[in-house]
Amino acid sequence: MNAISQDAVASASGSKLEALNAWVAEVAALTRPDTIHWCDGSDAENAALTAKMQADGTLIKLNEQTHPGSWLHRSDPDDVARVEHLTFVCTSERDDAGPNNHWMAPADGHAQMDALFDGCMAGRTMYVVPYCMGPIGSPLSRCGVEITDSPYVVANMRIMTRMGAPALARIEKEGAFVKGLHSTGELDPNRRFIMHFPEELTIKSYGSGYGGNALLGKKCHALRIASHQARSEGWLAEHMLILGLQNPQGDTHYIAAAFPSACGKTNLAMLIPPEGYLNDGWKITTVGDDICWMRPGADGRLYAINPEAGFFGVAPGTSKKSNPNALACLQRDAIFTNVGVTADNQPWWEGLDNGQQPATDWRGEPYDAAKRPAAHPNSRFTVSAKSCPSYSPEAENPAGVPISAIVFGGRRASLVPLVFEARDWTHGVLVGAAMGSETTAAATGAVGVMRRDPMAMKPFCGYNFADYFSHWLSFDNGANKLPKIFHVNWFRKSDAGKFMWPGFGDNLRVLEWMIGRVKGEAGAVETPIGFLPTDADLNLDGIELDDEARAKLFGFEQAGWQAEFASIGEYLGEYGPRMPQALKDEQQRIAAKLAD
Ligand code: GDP
Ligand code: PGA
Ligand code: MN
Ligand code: MN
Repeated sequence: MNAISQDAVASASGSKLEALNAWVAEVAALTRPDTIHWCDGSDAENAALTAKMQADGTLIKLNEQTHPGSWLHRSDPDDVARVEHLTFVCTSERDDAGPNNHWMAPADGHAQMDALFDGCMAGRTMYVVPYCMGPIGSPLSRCGVEITDSPYVVANMRIMTRMGAPALARIEKEGAFVKGLHSTGELDPNRRFIMHFPEELTIKSYGSGYGGNALLGKKCHALRIASHQARSEGWLAEHMLILGLQNPQGDTHYIAAAFPSACGKTNLAMLIPPEGYLNDGWKITTVGDDICWMRPGADGRLYAINPEAGFFGVAPGTSKKSNPNALACLQRDAIFTNVGVTADNQPWWEGLDNGQQPATDWRGEPYDAAKRPAAHPNSRFTVSAKSCPSYSPEAENPAGVPISAIVFGGRRASLVPLVFEARDWTHGVLVGAAMGSETTAAATGAVGVMRRDPMAMKPFCGYNFADYFSHWLSFDNGANKLPKIFHVNWFRKSDAGKFMWPGFGDNLRVLEWMIGRVKGEAGAVETPIGFLPTDADLNLDGIELDDEARAKLFGFEQAGWQAEFASIGEYLGEYGPRMPQALKDEQQRIAAKLAD
């Protein structure tokens, strides 16, 4: 065993906050690194770290002419996505974590993790990364410190959060922070766990370098720990994008939308209006693409901030046609993980459609279409939000932006129409609770299997879903002016198996209808599942939809919905007596209407 050096012990005291120094010293005593580096987030620090990673092969330099300041990282082939079966919520009471989480008693969780961390940083540098989720000056923001032995994690945290000196200053002032301990360990899938201790505001993650498992500010803090905190403090931490929709008159409405991972959040957040709309002066601004923290303001409306500072986006499918704003962000200073490269070292992925060809696949082998795709289906880019042409100045507003509409959505090949509106808040909470979606490559496991993913939070809610739905219902207290709630499905397929809705920029047509509903101007027909537009209530000028598409995108299929509501009833029942009665009543009310 190698003992921790005196130098390391001395450098444990890098802050003015005793509790932070003590924790860093305690972690160093357990993990026994060679050195401790407190990250200040400076350019010089980043340059030194990047040079070190280039030298040891962690980062591969991309073509400096076409992609200045950009890098490729190839992860371990067994470490390419979130691992939900290895992710735990460790609350003292098992029922507080709920059937929606894997659970372990906190003492057992700590024992298991500390055994893995024992001596794991020997010969390595331990980085102490202070970060702030949300604008440094916002009362809605929350801070954390991630300790990691991965410089790749540091480089990504620098883009994804407000990291370094300003965050440390806020932490020293507040005295409170979320503790996150991370080590890539030996990347053995059998020695990999992501554990959360919400009652202690603590995260321990071992054995993975992948974004959602390793960048602890993101899913672990900003969703699992924050959702738990939000419940006791009266706010919401959600898996939602936030966008501003500006109409030709110059009014902006903000919309928050929850779709499961790899179901279209980043694309919707950066949408460029179709030509006719552009000419008329419609515009979308991006506040956030993955996480939304919101709480009622003095006027009773919900105000939202994006706790992140960057985008960790899905690369495949991103093209000049589908998402020009994302492509513009990727011109410089981006980190690409598990994409392919061209012969002249430009990043490449399926659906990039720029006329170039891959030479090397994501595993570093010569590209062979018969063997594997050039880019892993869950390959990602990490890029600063500031580099996005549509980034909203309001994203830096410490007060957040007022939300006019909340949207839930998933990947549903059948049954679910393009869009519908919930009758009221309670119905809207049921619509969110009942969300179903086909699984994607963002998590390990089978792809394309329909599962319940309430509010797109199945992998991210840090407590019992029954309590989470009660918390959502509690916002309808008579004083709040709550947004309208909608449900969308961009992924409805024809009998021939093709997507029927053009999606992407044309999704603006659906957003326009929503704001029309908010203002009481747009038409709809009432059905048992909510208000549906007819194909005449949406502006469909310039797109072609055949009869099958019109029937399925705007239709209500009574028999199918009867079966769906029976399945929703069973799902709510799985949570037993803890499930709020108001939600069960709402399900039964609609099921009864469907039976008429
Ligand atoms: P996120 O992970 O929720 O942020 O999802 P992304 O916006 O990164 O999209 C995930 C995948 O869905 C990408 O391959 C996109 O090209 C695809 N996608 C996004 N929006 C649409 C849409 O409106 N229609 C269709 N058919 N595909 C979409
Ligand atoms: P996504 O983010 O929602 O943009 O896919 C990553 C994830 O949820 O794993
Ligand atoms: Mn996500
Ligand atoms: Mn995304």
